[in-house]
Amino acid sequence: MTAEPTYRGFALDAETALALLQWQSELGADEPCLDAPLDRYAMPERAEAPAPAPAPAPAAAKPPAEAEDLVARATAMAAAATSLAELAQAQEDFDGIELKKGARNFCFCDGNPAARVMIIGEAPGEEEDRQGRPFVGRAGQLLDQMFAAIGLSRQAVDAERALYITNVLTWRPPGNRRPEPAEIAMMLPFLARHVELAQPQFLVLMGNTPCIAALNQQGILKLRGTWTTAFGLPALPMAHPAYLLRTPLAKREAWADLLSLAARLDG
Ligand code: URA
Repeated sequence: MTAEPTYRGFALDAETALALLQWQSELGADEPCLDAPLDRYAMPERAEAPAPAPAPAPAAAKPPAEAEDLVARATAMAAAATSLAELAQAQEDFDGIELKKGARNFCFCDGNPAARVMIIGEAPGEEEDRQGRPFVGRAGQLLDQMFAAIGLSRQAVDAERALYITNVLTWRPPGNRRPEPAEIAMMLPFLARHVELAQPQFLVLMGNTPCIAALNQQGILKLRGTWTTAFGLPALPMAHPAYLLRTPLAKREAWADLLSLAARLDG
């Protein structure tokens, strides 16, 4: 008979183990370390500190000239697109971004392109990568509930009630890590053209990454709730639903932000 696995003294069934793993993955953990925490303060001091290892170059880092060249190429490809379908094709074809090699699916948009409200998120996660559509995992389910509370839905045919959804990055970063500045810079021309072609009336910037991309600002907890201008349109920064899942108390402020959007739509 095999012993029941345990975690910190608790019996660990398969379902709980999977939930724990998913939770850690959502927090950004992408490699196993140790079974138990290691108290380095309690360890004997080393006689001689080893020389610090040189910092590894980030995987996506490119020499500045090459990176600039890629941004110029992305800009030209985006500008040449005259419809959303052409833009999606151009963005999918763009080979300058390393993330493309590790992702399963291209994740361009979801919802109704005629919507008055366009939501811009960060990047596909695991479920989005699997389905090739933005915001279809747990955070996406919360996003749907939030916007349903003010009468908006990505399934709505009527533009008044509809939502259109995209992300700054269209390919999943490994282990759901944060997008790097070079990746944001390369995708920005596509995002700007996406907004231009979709012509929404209002933008919602979901979390820090779209604020970095569209406003060149970060600090979503300060930015949220204050209307600003992005890509020439009225834009509302809001806390990301993944943050709201971890911080339920912040849902009160998110509700205030949704009411502010509803008031703009009515006004
Ligand atoms: N988080 C995002 O920002 N976008 C998604 O599509 C999914 C999770």
